[in-house]
Amino acid sequence: MKNTKIKRTLLEALEKAGKIIRANFGKEQRITKKGKFNLVTEIDKASEKAVVGLIQKRFPDHSILAEESPEVTGSGCRWIIDPIDGTTNFAHGFPTVSVSIGFEKDGRLEMGGVWDPFRKELFFAVRGHGATLSGKRIRVSKTKTLEDSLLATGFPYDRNLSPDGYLAMLRVFLTRIQGIRRGGSAAIDLCYVACGRFDGYYEMKLQPWDKAAGMMIVKEAGGKLTDFSGSPLTITGLQNLATNGLIHTEMLAALAPFQQLGR
Ligand code: IPD
Ligand code: CA
Ligand code: CA
Repeated sequence: MKNTKIKRTLLEALEKAGKIIRANFGKEQRITKKGKFNLVTEIDKASEKAVVGLIQKRFPDHSILAEESPEVTGSGCRWIIDPIDGTTNFAHGFPTVSVSIGFEKDGRLEMGGVWDPFRKELFFAVRGHGATLSGKRIRVSKTKTLEDSLLATGFPYDRNLSPDGYLAMLRVFLTRIQGIRRGGSAAIDLCYVACGRFDGYYEMKLQPWDKAAGMMIVKEAGGKLTDFSGSPLTITGLQNLATNGLIHTEMLAALAPFQQLGR
């Protein structure tokens, strides 16, 4: 199978989805809920339909794991799709959203693309070939200490059920760093670690579609990805930590009291 056809399809799918998102931004949305805070708009579904439709036209036998549809299995080639990462932002007219598509072969991530249709930024990486932002090579930051760091985080949708752990983690960082941001798109948070805008990012309970592409991009930009104990991050892992590598040990030490969280 040719990587070029995969790449072309991935980039085309990102663009198609981005156009749908932009065309519908700020309009009143029909919204349903998957949980107390977990929204789905009709545009999540329309975006996903466009992405999945294109992939299935080109690669009818590939597996697909997309957020809003039942999983399609049976092939070693799997596409992992978040049609809108940042649905809450989108539903409120806050323009920080992305489309995220990862491509995996035999359980190993091979390619990832994240498209921010508002800033028109394309983050992209192929395993072993580095990561780019709109065609230019990116690297993680050179910040050496937590004290000098700008971090990102997010709060899972079950935060009403078990807020204490999430708040305690936030407290640890709040008192020690230059700043912390909650952007609302995990894929963008990871890409910002990859290009050095953030020095580190942690969040509990991401789903594979939130992070597959972003993980590939961070890795190829020279970053480090683990759980809170320092074991390599997997796409199904509950604890997610991504850093520039230099502050990783300090972040792990800060997160040590939370190693059992979510387990
Ligand atoms: C969410 C966003 C958010 C993160 C949540 C995700 P969605 O994805 O990535 O930043 O904090 O954990 O579920 O629901 O907008 O696709
Ligand atoms: Ca998501
Ligand atoms: Ca989503």
